[in-house]
Amino acid sequence: MTGGWLAPAGPAAAEIARLSWVLFAVGTLVYVAVIGLLGFGLWRGRRRSPGDPNATAAPAWLVPVGALATFVVVTALLAFSLPTFGVIVARPAADDLIVEVVGHQWWWTVRYPGSTAAETVETANEIRVPVGRRVTVRLLASDVIHSFWVPALQGKLDQIPGKTNVTWLQAARPGVYRGQCAEYCGLQHARMAFLVIAEPPEAFEEWLDRERAPAAPAADDLARQGQQLFLSRGCASCHSIRGTAASFGRAGPDLTHVASRHSLAAGTLRNVKGNMAGWIADPQTLKPGNHMPRVPLEPPDFHAILHYLQGLR
Ligand code: CUA
Repeated sequence: MTGGWLAPAGPAAAEIARLSWVLFAVGTLVYVAVIGLLGFGLWRGRRRSPGDPNATAAPAWLVPVGALATFVVVTALLAFSLPTFGVIVARPAADDLIVEVVGHQWWWTVRYPGSTAAETVETANEIRVPVGRRVTVRLLASDVIHSFWVPALQGKLDQIPGKTNVTWLQAARPGVYRGQCAEYCGLQHARMAFLVIAEPPEAFEEWLDRERAPAAPAADDLARQGQQLFLSRGCASCHSIRGTAASFGRAGPDLTHVASRHSLAAGTLRNVKGNMAGWIADPQTLKPGNHMPRVPLEPPDFHAILHYLQGLR
């Protein structure tokens, strides 16, 4: 993982970082000046004798000059920060890539709208983008207010139920950038993360084609058994696997290509087999309060489902 708020990887974040450094520098100068004047006043006061009637009197010019200096500094900073707003605000263009991100307690739907339902790609907690291309991100929420923040690429913007906010991203170089919900949204707010993965345009198009394809067919008997159990044991009531009978669940993340993702449970766990096993076995211990119930499964059934999901690349 690379980048951060002060290590920008795209034009919007670079603008924010530039403004941050200027504010930090001016703030430091003002602080040093104020503390310096305070120290000077204390030093001068101590040298005067206690009976001197002028010991505490401030010169008449001090208040007007101080007020004027404050006004000048604050106005200059305002003028300096206005162009940043002009850069970070979204102005969608016709050739932008469009991505829709829906915040839920506590994970993200990521959708690449296509002209038909079959063309539309849906995944979770992972936004792939082509390097160098502007991406318009439409932000929605299904339950409470969340906030979309990728410090290395862009400032934060709220996701509000019933409203669509729009922001944009652009990655200047390939990398994996962490995103985080930035609005307190309940028990697992801290574990509501996602990744932005920027890759060369050809690699991105290949990925999008793979994601658009329906799920890989079950490769062996154990996987076929797992596929049936996925339906009969209730997993399918929340999770959808496109191209199978289990393509109706909407409450949880789409699992069509779950094994090819980087993380499980919105950045909570690295997506390796052992973690997926632990997650299915006891999601409430790993991320208490999340909406995935613990489903009691006999060991053979558990292994069949795990094996099936591992094949969904
Ligand atoms: Cu979603 Cu905090």
